[in-house]
Amino acid sequence: MKITSLGYLRVESPDAKDWATFGPEVLGLAVSEDPLGRPNTVALTNDDRPGRIVITEGQQNRLQCAGWELPSAEDLADAVEELERAGVAAQRATAEQCEAARVRDLVSFTDPAGFTHELFYGQLVVPGSFKPGRAMSGFVTGGQGLGHIVLVVPDLVQSLDFYRKVLGFRISDEIDMGGNRLIFFHVNPRHHTLAIMAIPGMRGLHHLMLQVDSVDDVGRAHDLCLDRKIPLAMTLGRHTNDRMLSFYLRSPSGFEIEYGWGAQTVDDEDDWVVTHMKSTSIWGHRPGDAPAPGCVEPIQG
Ligand SMILES: [Fe+2]
Repeated sequence: MKITSLGYLRVESPDAKDWATFGPEVLGLAVSEDPLGRPNTVALTNDDRPGRIVITEGQQNRLQCAGWELPSAEDLADAVEELERAGVAAQRATAEQCEAARVRDLVSFTDPAGFTHELFYGQLVVPGSFKPGRAMSGFVTGGQGLGHIVLVVPDLVQSLDFYRKVLGFRISDEIDMGGNRLIFFHVNPRHHTLAIMAIPGMRGLHHLMLQVDSVDDVGRAHDLCLDRKIPLAMTLGRHTNDRMLSFYLRSPSGFEIEYGWGAQTVDDEDDWVVTHMKSTSIWGHRPGDAPAPGCVEPIQG
């Protein structure tokens, strides 16, 4: 399957409205207009593709879906066949669903962990439209997509097999931490677009990483969190594997935002060698003052 990037995320949250200020004022995101004019929905973006992050008011903090980009209609048709061969039923979207997602066409399916994914092609681009919500230099997107996400899955091996063999994600590396194993996958030069870790009986979105163009953007966001008393989930630090300099803040919807700069990239797939590490960070990333993740839920039934 030819997935090339993470295109968008949709999240359900009782505190969706808080994103109308949190998104632009703290993260520097731009507010996007909703194509269907839905109330109780806040759409945001970090580049010229409107609505990459959509938060809709609902009963719980829950990842509704991750949207994965394919290069063309042919690649989408091939992907549907591959899903069917793997015994996964894909649902075609209605014209209204495609319009809401700002894409030409999409299909949705559920993975073994119970997450809903959408595969799409033809995302809306409005060149020159991105204006950050506050003064900053901008985000690393383009061929690297929206950013990266880390998902908590109930069964690591089952999810690893699915993302690797069915969706075609390539392993970047692994981190082993006191019996907790994290696996990192890339689909483009971004060191990882998806990472997974297992907590038996649990499922959810741990964090979304947004990468900024300048280290000063990280410092300014950090100042803003201190000024506004926004809870930090992890202090400033530098990761061992992608070398990202970042800190983690708690979003209004429970999951964390990793706000980072300076990650290394996978420039040549043929030269990439998989390694493993024993810690997530070279320095820092100490536990902050935010409570435990609120977007990771026990799996019912
Ligand atoms: Fe991360």
